Amino acid sequence: MKHAIVTGGASGIGRAVVIRLVDRGYHVTVFDLTVAGAAEEHVTSIGVDVTDAAAVSEAVASAIEQRGSVTVLVTCHGIRGAFVPALELDADHVRRMFDVHVVGTLLVASAVARDLIDVGTEGSVVAISSTTAFRGWRRQSDYGVAKAAVRQLTENLAIEWAEHGIRVNSVAPGHTRTPMVQDLIDNGYDIAATEARIPLGRLATPDEMARAIEHLAVDASYTTGVCVPVDGGWTAVGK
Ligand SMILES: NC(=O)c1ccc[n+]([C@@H]2O[C@H](COP(=O)([O-])OP(=O)(O)OC[C@H]3O[C@@H](n4cnc5c(N)ncnc54)[C@H](O)[C@@H]3O)[C@@H](O)[C@H]2O)c1
Repeated sequence: MKHAIVTGGASGIGRAVVIRLVDRGYHVTVFDLTVAGAAEEHVTSIGVDVTDAAAVSEAVASAIEQRGSVTVLVTCHGIRGAFVPALELDADHVRRMFDVHVVGTLLVASAVARDLIDVGTEGSVVAISSTTAFRGWRRQSDYGVAKAAVRQLTENLAIEWAEHGIRVNSVAPGHTRTPMVQDLIDNGYDIAATEARIPLGRLATPDEMARAIEHLAVDASYTTGVCVPVDGGWTAVGK
């Protein structure tokens, strides 16, 4: 059976990706901070903090030992930004933002790619960036800048690993109804104003993100080094 790893696969977009990949015939190993929930067919969960290099190395080695080389990796782990002006940002918070999004993505992708290169097998990686990664944004100097780095990281990995047949792309989700966005709403985020700015006039569902991720991960055999906005037209708006 083909083997995929989905980080952040216990919740939100990652969870929707797990369901789609199982449907496509993958055994999915979920990496997330906590392992909970009932046992599911074709899904194995490993508790791991993706910022911990030794833990990532051990978790990837164990997943490969149990299920074979990982030919699809989707990095859906993430934490939300503070939504404060740059002048109010705390240095440790910004470091954590880069650690989780950038270092975490690099560590898991590298561990998976090292094995694929060793055994001479092709594969693909999809990382999750954000619409905040493309332009300047108010109150996004933590999260948005880290997501811009994720976007560039996927370009860099794409050109370094292309010779090994490993494609690397990213998806830039617009606002998606997940626990992360619910937490923002619960903390006073004006979701009605956001929806009014989205050309399609509504938030995305996690499965709408998962469909685009599945396409890049499994079907888009000539696509590498791109970041695809999946945002209801948000990025296309000029003013
Ligand atoms: N929901 C949105 O509107 C939206 C928009 C743009 C980008 N994104 C990005 O999409 C991805 C998924 O977000 P979501 O909305 O599904 O969020 P979510 O909070 O529902 O899920 C994120 C998951 O990541 C896990 N996680 C966090 N830190 C981790 C760590 N250090 N190690 C391992 N796992 C960790 C969490 O436990 C959680 O299960 C994130 O990268 C997020 O930044 C989301």
